Amino acid sequence: MSNSKVTFSSKIGLIAATVGSAVGLGNVWRFPAETQSNGGAAFLFIYIICLFILGIPVMLAEFSLGRGAKSDAVGAFTKLKPSTPWWVTGGLAVLASYLILCFYMVVAGWTFEYLWQSLTGNLYSADLSKAAMDSSFHAKMESYICADIPPLINLYILIGINIAILMCGVQKGIERLSNIMMPILFLLLLVFCGVSLSLPGASEGLKFFLTPDFSKITPGVVVNALGQAFFSMSLGMGILITYASYFPKDTKLGKTAITVSFLDLLVAILMGIVIFPAVASFGLDESQLRGATLVFVTLPEIFAQMQFTQLWSVLFFLLLFVAALTSTISIAEVSVAWIQDRFNKSRIIASLIVMLPLFIFSSLCSLSFGSLSSLTIFGLTIFDFLDNLATNIFLPVVSILICCFMGWVVKKDFFKNEITNNGKLKGKLFPIVYFIIKYIAPPLILLILISAFIKI
Ligand code: PFF
Repeated sequence: MSNSKVTFSSKIGLIAATVGSAVGLGNVWRFPAETQSNGGAAFLFIYIICLFILGIPVMLAEFSLGRGAKSDAVGAFTKLKPSTPWWVTGGLAVLASYLILCFYMVVAGWTFEYLWQSLTGNLYSADLSKAAMDSSFHAKMESYICADIPPLINLYILIGINIAILMCGVQKGIERLSNIMMPILFLLLLVFCGVSLSLPGASEGLKFFLTPDFSKITPGVVVNALGQAFFSMSLGMGILITYASYFPKDTKLGKTAITVSFLDLLVAILMGIVIFPAVASFGLDESQLRGATLVFVTLPEIFAQMQFTQLWSVLFFLLLFVAALTSTISIAEVSVAWIQDRFNKSRIIASLIVMLPLFIFSSLCSLSFGSLSSLTIFGLTIFDFLDNLATNIFLPVVSILICCFMGWVVKKDFFKNEITNNGKLKGKLFPIVYFIIKYIAPPLILLILISAFIKI
């Protein structure tokens, strides 16, 4: 059965699913950490500019490609330019998304463990005196992540949940899950904003996050903001091409791109409003905001000092789990759609073909913190190698190729017809979007790529 005729059943479902893909660990822990290390509000300012000037046009290019071709990430290129090597771009997107899936699933498993530990109360069973708390949560995180078996169990639970949802299909699986999960996520975020803002000294943190000091803007800050915008909007991995192939013909792509980007930005900003006041209030330093430490050490420390510790902890890790789950589903869907279309397989078979190898590949990523930690590729653990390869190299390369394809290879009318729904909409901004895709986006994204090489 081909998936080419499947569509999302409602506008809300379509938005919820696409926002579910965009909103993930990138918003919840990567964004606050990037903001902290790139100068606070100045980074936020540049991030917003990158998102609107570059992110939305690239999102529109992916949407147009997917909906116009009504095909998976590889099939879209084959359909529009048959008998040319352009399908390789789609192939790279599938590969990139699969590599990301291998390690993203591991981290999603960690969020599940912390949700479970919060529910059982075990997370707060150690010495919670102020002096011992930091080292006690650190030790807990390290002993969990660096163990072999417990993270594998959670990883397999996550893979199982993913298989079940993917098998249920686009409408009954992905759309239904997103319709339930996304409102929960926004509600939880609002609750946390309220809690964080009511802490003593919260305004200091808010000032850091929202009052820009423009002298802090450097080329490095711009490149990091650009990278974060692409990561957060799930660009350059075929996710948006695949999801847009499920958009009905009358979906307004411009409006959808703006809504999705705005909601993705809103989650990142709300997360900043949760983190920075809390950090200021509890007098924490920058090292406590980095990656896993932020969510698995710093936040539990904050919850432990608040009333209703367990309640806040359960709600926060539920939020994190929801964000991670809807993103893993969207990343996996790229490969599922490709197998379904290319090899004419049923959804159930395609889901199994995609997910079963993860039991091995993701296990290797998980074990790279434990007994495989000495196994390195170019001096990096398997986990870090895949992370760097996929997000710093594949993601910008695929994005540049998509821009070149839509700006220089397919006819301008194809792009325009998609944006204007075959002339039914005015598409006043189309010339600007087209100009950006053709001339501005490729060199700017190239900058992200070059800077990744310099950093490596
Ligand atoms: N956009 C989502 C996030 O911000 O977490 C999911 C995601 C998918 C991020 C793929 C990054 C990525 F490479």
